[in-house]
Amino acid sequence: MRDFKGKIVFVTGGASGAGLGQAKVFGREGMKVCIADIRQDALDNAVKELIAFGIPEKDILAQKVDLTNRAEYTAAADKVEEVFGGPPHLLIQTAGVNSFGPIEASTFDDFDWVMGVCLNHVVNGLLIFVPRMIKAYAHKTEFWVATTSSMGAFMAGSGTGPYSAAKAAVNNLMYSYAEALKPYGSGATVLCPGNINSNIGNAEKFRPANLKNTGYHISEGTMASLRAIHATGIDPVELAEILKEGIENERIIVLPDHTPEKRAAQLRGLNETIENYTLTGAERAAIAAKRAEERRKMFEEMAKKNGGNGAPPPMMRRQSAEGTEPFGKARDDLDWIDPSKKLQK
Ligand code: NAI
Repeated sequence: MRDFKGKIVFVTGGASGAGLGQAKVFGREGMKVCIADIRQDALDNAVKELIAFGIPEKDILAQKVDLTNRAEYTAAADKVEEVFGGPPHLLIQTAGVNSFGPIEASTFDDFDWVMGVCLNHVVNGLLIFVPRMIKAYAHKTEFWVATTSSMGAFMAGSGTGPYSAAKAAVNNLMYSYAEALKPYGSGATVLCPGNINSNIGNAEKFRPANLKNTGYHISEGTMASLRAIHATGIDPVELAEILKEGIENERIIVLPDHTPEKRAAQLRGLNETIENYTLTGAERAAIAAKRAEERRKMFEEMAKKNGGNGAPPPMMRRQSAEGTEPFGKARDDLDWIDPSKKLQK
């Protein structure tokens, strides 16, 4: 899809972070911009930002929607047709939340919240919009579906279980749509960022009241740690421009954070991880020991050069700023969880 002017884009999670960046960039291309988000205050602020970015107010439709709720999502889709005369030509599903802790400490609420937003809302949007988009636009005009996933889609993590599972599923789903939409003259793109300068570090503050029973240790301090990490992430407008290039050039996966060489090296590393899962436990342990030895030697060399003590350089250690706490720990009262997976007081 290359011609955006005068067409309609629908961005989920469009009130903040990556979604707001996408609304800005595609709005600047002359699209009518529909944003859907669960937070009214963030939507009000986003509309102001979009207008300040140069997008005419008449071309903006901001809707408060819980995208995990199919009836609400369907009503929002109907509203787009009522206001702009048709379904979106470009659907970008970006809403997401995260929550980190030992997977064995997870509750049903942890899975329902994270998978509900990160995976189920994507399914909802595809089922609600794609038939409408095909009926309205196939073989007549360009249309496309995109989703914001994560590098987490390619990796498992003992402290990121629900999030990684949701993102892996989203990627797979988008590969299916990329194939499925070809006969209609369309396709799909999945954006997999590593770190975005967004508000996702505050997601826990907005966890719905009926899904608050978490197995993880969540506090102001853990949210501060996440905010500090995300503050170093890619700018949402820059990220949206990279997504636009991906859509224009029919990329199925867009990995924004790396040069082509680094990207290839990273994917080789991920492939190796999967290959290692097929080995025996003893073979994996031997590889891990070899790597640890290589790392030890590397630090020793670095220390010799720099006159240091052989400890890992600061950027490879976990930083902890004032007021922050390590995230990814279990709730204190879960007495069956390994103590190393709890906050050390
Ligand atoms: P953000 O918190 O700034 O934006 C996400 C938006 O989704 C928020 O405005 C939030 O209100 C909305 N949302 C949450 N639940 C919703 C629901 N049920 N219905 C409607 N809206 C809902 O976070 P960010 O980082 O911009 O997240 C966008 C996407 O990027 C997410 O899918 C996230 O998983 C992904 N991502 C983020 C990374 C990061 O470092 N921040 C890295 C990789 C992927």
